[in-house]
Amino acid sequence: MLRPRLHSSLGLVVQRQKRSERISMDPKATAVTKARYNRIAPLYDLMDSFMEWLLFREWRKLVWQAVGPAQRLLEVGVGTGKNILYYPEDTQITAIDLSDQMLMRARKRAQKLGLRVELSQMDAQALDFADDALDTVVATFVFCSVPDPVLGLQEINRVLRPGGKVVLLEHMRPESPWLGRLFDLLNPFVVRLWGANINRRTVENVRLSGLEIENIESLTPQGIVQMIIARAGKEK
Ligand SMILES: C[S@@+](CC[C@H](N)C(=O)[O-])C[C@H]1O[C@@H](n2cnc3c(N)ncnc32)[C@H](O)[C@@H]1O
Repeated sequence: MLRPRLHSSLGLVVQRQKRSERISMDPKATAVTKARYNRIAPLYDLMDSFMEWLLFREWRKLVWQAVGPAQRLLEVGVGTGKNILYYPEDTQITAIDLSDQMLMRARKRAQKLGLRVELSQMDAQALDFADDALDTVVATFVFCSVPDPVLGLQEINRVLRPGGKVVLLEHMRPESPWLGRLFDLLNPFVVRLWGANINRRTVENVRLSGLEIENIESLTPQGIVQMIIARAGKEK
């Protein structure tokens, strides 16, 4: 399929590109995820507030330390904008999300902080950026909800320049088989209530996407939350 790609904030050239043939997202699953987060958006910060105070804010700092210097950075699944506070200065940043209601809150947060952030509604499974357009991508707690996580990660691989960096903070299926099975059983309820799957095999998904893992840091017992640093693969 030929379609134009333009992202003015990153000064990219408008170009027509052939999208990879492997891309075939599920529109129904994507619409369900979007509706779920639109519904959760008014309560999202409240639901996460205790964990944010206890753990997440420290983990976010680790993520942004790991990002290092960047020129053209994309945050995928910005949500209500909890990472905006940590964005590096002097970096062209675009933040995207599937849910307009989550994005609206991110926009308000940026305004409150007096920061200018380019926010766009976009699907991680079909990023509207040219191949090799970016040098860094960040996502925190996102690939638990992207309907087809491998597709989303393949898109990240595509839009990163060769050797470009991706930093992910993700919760995933626990390592122990019995706990993993328990998470599998609970998942259908959790995903409806909270929007996120608790049994994704995200490290495996990163490998399947063609991204090359550079470092994995487990932040909790059982590897339930991990920070993954990967590079865009040479073979895309
Ligand atoms: C659990 S929230 C995390 C939000 C934020 N990154 C944070 O750390 O608080 C997951 C976010 O991913 C977004 N999301 C899910 N699927 C997506 C997709 N296909 N494309 C873009 N964003 C998506 C949701 O709308 C939601 O805002």
